[in-house]
Formats: sequence, structure tokens, C-alpha cells
Amino acid sequence: MKHLLSAAELSLDEAILLLDTAAQMSATQSREIKKLPTLRGRTVVNLFFEDSTRTRISFETAAKRLSADVINFSAKGSSVSKGESLKDTALTLHAMGADAVVVRHWASGAPHQLAHSGWLGGVDGPVAVLNAGDGTHQHPTQALLDAFTIRRHLVGRAGGATGDGVGRDLRGIKVAIVGDVLHSRVARSNVALLRTLGAEVTLVAPPTLLPVGVETWPCATSYDLDETLTQWQPDAVMMLRVQRERMSGGAGAFFPSPLEYSRRYGLDRRRQAMLAGHTIVMHPGPMNRGLEISAEAADSARSVIVEQVANGVAVRMAALYLLLAGDTSAEGTAL
Ligand code: CP
Repeated sequence: MKHLLSAAELSLDEAILLLDTAAQMSATQSREIKKLPTLRGRTVVNLFFEDSTRTRISFETAAKRLSADVINFSAKGSSVSKGESLKDTALTLHAMGADAVVVRHWASGAPHQLAHSGWLGGVDGPVAVLNAGDGTHQHPTQALLDAFTIRRHLVGRAGGATGDGVGRDLRGIKVAIVGDVLHSRVARSNVALLRTLGAEVTLVAPPTLLPVGVETWPCATSYDLDETLTQWQPDAVMMLRVQRERMSGGAGAFFPSPLEYSRRYGLDRRRQAMLAGHTIVMHPGPMNRGLEISAEAADSARSVIVEQVANGVAVRMAALYLLLAGDTSAEGTAL
């Protein structure tokens, strides 16, 4: 593994190595001195062409906790706004000695282009490219932190899903992913990774917010959230942000209407009462409180949304460590 571009490209062994390494990184974060010397002298560039709070800050935190130098590059305020191309931006970063480039881009495929073009000093190296979200395509570290959170809460739970008995994969766990699947790189990444890890997935959305060809994805689909919650009884309910900025017809134009959407697909007090006692509520953030999730559900005891953010640091430390310093073969020793 030279780059982290797509959750769909991860083998079961690679995914488990990343999750196990993240668990080790997480353990280091409860120490008084959190910083590890592992990436001293290496440079990580955060290259963000789209807005971000959680991903950008947690990649920066992760790199700094590993003692790397961090350069934050935002398209706003850079020469990109004067028309500079991705290629010339990449050549500039390479000239400045980047060892890893964390890229978020509005265009699906931009991280692949960076990784495989040679613009960063050679095809497939020496600079590692980590996809921090590209268009509607992929957001692999989000899927990894979601899987990490699910594993922490649900694997090995007494009387419930047990994974493979040693807490490695997610076999036996049922995850409902609810909402704007059409525009969601989080949904695409999660379906791929959760299936690799052995979980069962059901997508719940109105027909207008499911992509063409979803029937070929390795999961079930439903238009009925109440039925999924009561009949299927998921162990985790992952609410997706309604991405009004990606909808054609301008921001805010989507069908069904916000009121109807909230009534049929929002997670509120009534639907929370349908969940099993152990079921966790997830959201990748940022949330539209009052649209896909009520404030009460977001802040409830079963919500792990804030924990997902914290786990993002450990997962991104693991990804940077394995790509820049570790043995990324599945047989290799992580730390
Ligand atoms: N989940 C996520 O990608 O959030 P940000 O857009 O704030 O990074």
C-alpha cells in the first residue's frame, strides 16, 4: 500500500492492519506526552480544495502527534484562485519536499490523478497520497474511523454481534446508512469497507437520493426507515448529511422537501425509541440538525458522533504511520 485512495481498494488484511494500528495509536493518546517521534523530519502537506473542519484538523493533529512538519494549503487564498492547475500545484509541492500529500478535492478521481501522474516525483512514489474526500467518490479515512468506532462499541458485545471472536472484523454486525446516498462519498466508502470487514449494510433513502446502479452495490436498499429500524434492527445507524450544495437546481432544491424528508428519513425521538438498547447513532458531520437528525438524537447517550471525531485522529495517525514509516504488508509488524 503506497497510497490510501479508496476504501474499496483495501483488502481485509490491510483494513485490519489499519484498524489495529489505530488502536495502538489511540492508546498513545491517553498518555501525558502524546507525541511520538516516528515521522520526525518528514513533511505532510494538507492540500484542501474543498472546505473541511474535522478531516483537515485531524490530519494536521495526527501528523503533528507523529512529529511530522505540516504545511496547510487551502485553495482559497492560493494561486489556485488565479487559475493554477492541479499539476502545477503538485509540482510546486514536490519541489518543496513533501513526503505525503493529503488531498481533498471537489473532483472525483483527483487523488488518483495525483498519485499516478508522476507529478509528485514518480508514478506511485515516492510521495504518498491520502484521499481526504474526492467529489462524491471516496473518503477512506472516514470509513476507517467509522469502522474503528463500530468495532470499539459493538464487537464482542455480550449477547450480541461477536465479529470473529477476537474482535478483528465486523461479521454479524448490521449497519443502516440513511439519507443522501446519491451525493455521499461517506456512504460509498462505508459500504465497501463494511462489506470487506464482513458487516451487513442496508441503505435507506428516498428513490431520488439513491444513485443509478445502486442495486449492484454489495448491500440491501430500502425506502422505508421505520421498517428498517423495527424489522431489521440495526446495530449502528449512520445518518448522512443532506448535501444541498451538490444538488442541481441550486442549494436547497431537493426532493422530497426538507419537511417531508425530515418526517420520513430524519432520526428523531420517535425513531430513537425503535432502536435496540445497544444500537449506536453515528454521523460523519457536519450535521444539519433538525433535518436528517434532531438535536435530541445527536446529543443522546447512544450518539457516538463526538467519539467518531476523536477516533479520526488515531485512524489518520495509523494511515500516515503505515504509509510513511511502517511495514504496510499485511504480514508486517505495525509498530
Ligand atoms: N466528515 C467530514 O469529512 O467532515 P469535514 O468536511 O468537516 O472534514
